[in-house]
Amino acid sequence: MCGIVGYIGGEPAAPLLLDGLEKLEYRGYDSAGIAVFDDGAIKIVKAKGKLSVLKNLVAGRELTGCIGIGHTRWATHGEPSVPNAHPHFNASRTIAVVHNGIIENYTEMRKYLSEKGYRFISDTDTEVVAHLLDYYYSKTNDPKEAISRMLTRIEGSYALGMLFADFPDTVFAARKDSPLAIGLGTGCNFIASDAPAIIKHTRDVIYIGNREIAEIKKDSVEVFNLDLEPLKKEAVRIEWDVEAAEKNGFEHFMLKEIYEQPAAIKNTVYPRISGSEINLDESGLSDDDFSRFKKIYVVACGSAYHAGVVGKYVIEKLARIPVETDLASEFRYRDPIYEKDALCVVISQSGETADTLAALREAKKHGVFTLGIVNVVGSSIAREADGVIYTHAGPEISVATTKAYSAQLAVTYLLALKLARLRGTLDDKEYRDYVDELKTLHEKAAQLLGDNEDIQRYAAGKAGERDIFFIGRGIDYAAALEGSLKLKEISYIHSEAYAAGELKHGTISLIEKNTLVISLATQPDLFEKMKSNSEEVACRGADVFMITQAEAQADEKADFSVSIPDVLPAFSASLSVIPLQLFAYYVCLTKGLDVDKPRNLAKSVTVE
Ligand code: AGP
Repeated sequence: MCGIVGYIGGEPAAPLLLDGLEKLEYRGYDSAGIAVFDDGAIKIVKAKGKLSVLKNLVAGRELTGCIGIGHTRWATHGEPSVPNAHPHFNASRTIAVVHNGIIENYTEMRKYLSEKGYRFISDTDTEVVAHLLDYYYSKTNDPKEAISRMLTRIEGSYALGMLFADFPDTVFAARKDSPLAIGLGTGCNFIASDAPAIIKHTRDVIYIGNREIAEIKKDSVEVFNLDLEPLKKEAVRIEWDVEAAEKNGFEHFMLKEIYEQPAAIKNTVYPRISGSEINLDESGLSDDDFSRFKKIYVVACGSAYHAGVVGKYVIEKLARIPVETDLASEFRYRDPIYEKDALCVVISQSGETADTLAALREAKKHGVFTLGIVNVVGSSIAREADGVIYTHAGPEISVATTKAYSAQLAVTYLLALKLARLRGTLDDKEYRDYVDELKTLHEKAAQLLGDNEDIQRYAAGKAGERDIFFIGRGIDYAAALEGSLKLKEISYIHSEAYAAGELKHGTISLIEKNTLVISLATQPDLFEKMKSNSEEVACRGADVFMITQAEAQADEKADFSVSIPDVLPAFSASLSVIPLQLFAYYVCLTKGLDVDKPRNLAKSVTVE
């Protein structure tokens, strides 16, 4: 949820930290701060609001030190304010801490420390870390020992960056269930919650494991377990380039990422198809393994969950295996019936979503094989799942996901076809037609991105709406869920997605003159039903925006319509979602809202 960075080297740290934080602002942006070793002391500068406020403050200070840590916050404990912003100090201002995650037993720790005379000046859970470090450091005079003891006292999730005034040549770090990468430079090293913060300085990173401690100097990195035994770590090379994490001339990351969808689909699909055969060996599952599954759970949050709902329709249709979809936050607590020979697919762009990670662990605990569909290489879900299939969407910066969702859909299609082939549920011709369709899907997505002036104009006229409804049946319903989420998360317009047949069971009473209903009607066998449902709302005064598959099918009663290129209906969500993303984007733009950093949200939800 929050973003942390750290730098140790030969250049002034403050500009490097601010630059890194800018790349992490998508993780949280209600306040920010940095701590830098300067003139023999740790100096902290913090500000409420977006990073630009902190930048102005830092510009007025002469911070020349070459070692520091920084933080951009998404509040969990305590409102956004200067006292609650990170870094946090101990009382003598000799230990500074930045934290991403949640210390779950912070109330108990606060009480424990208060009884020992510690005073708290913030409402955060993080401040207990600073005071616990102070407490154990005063007993041991050894920062690693203090960190190790502190880690045994705190519960929850954390990525921590720490400075000790007595060790002005070291940045310390530790993590559990929150992401943290250590970037290896030449004569300098970094820490970061995510690679975009450091990619322009280094591509070589070390990922430290749960409850591990890193001691980072400018020329060395050492990692220890809780017993302070040294651990061997292999560096991983980040393959994508700097431009992938920049806007490249687009006004917003979201628009750039919408336009990167054809590439995301192609890069995800192509390496897994040779001829007509689908190769998913990287998943850790053999053909025999795939053949043995009789049931699939798909578990995820938000848009990744919506990709899973599309996946359910596609896998059930093509491979005839029952698929149960679940929101990870429900799955983890609802005590599901784990069936023998089941596969649990968890989908996550970040690979760090707390609920999805917990759901994965639940499934593993019950002996179910877990397969992650993940975008971020080396993330927690990628590491902990029994098998992983990476989406090759490249780094996604905008909080509203677009290209990662599209790449997730592509993996669910690959999975469906793999299972269908092994189970013989499609004949040869059908199977080849699907594979051929998959191979050209990116071209059809690109066609939809060619000219979007009409959508832009139409969306601009809808920026004043109060409520917008999305309806669809089958896969169109699954795509409607995503269209509705996209719209509400960035435009702040209330929106609901309904299975079209369900509308008249209550919701239709909300339709009044000029209420906008976006009707997805891309499934030929359900088109007439969707037409009727659209007419039902139109005759009650609604304005209807229809998405259909063939131009000929567009309903003349619709106020506005977009036709997606002809596609096998099972894969239509990959195309119908594009006008919906563009619609949301242009509504948001017209309203003058922050497209890439919508209020109250963060890209990576590492708390439950
Ligand atoms: C969608 O635009 C969201 N930002 C959100 O729903 C997201 O998909 C969800 O939080 C899951 O994230 P993950 O894919 O990183 O697990």
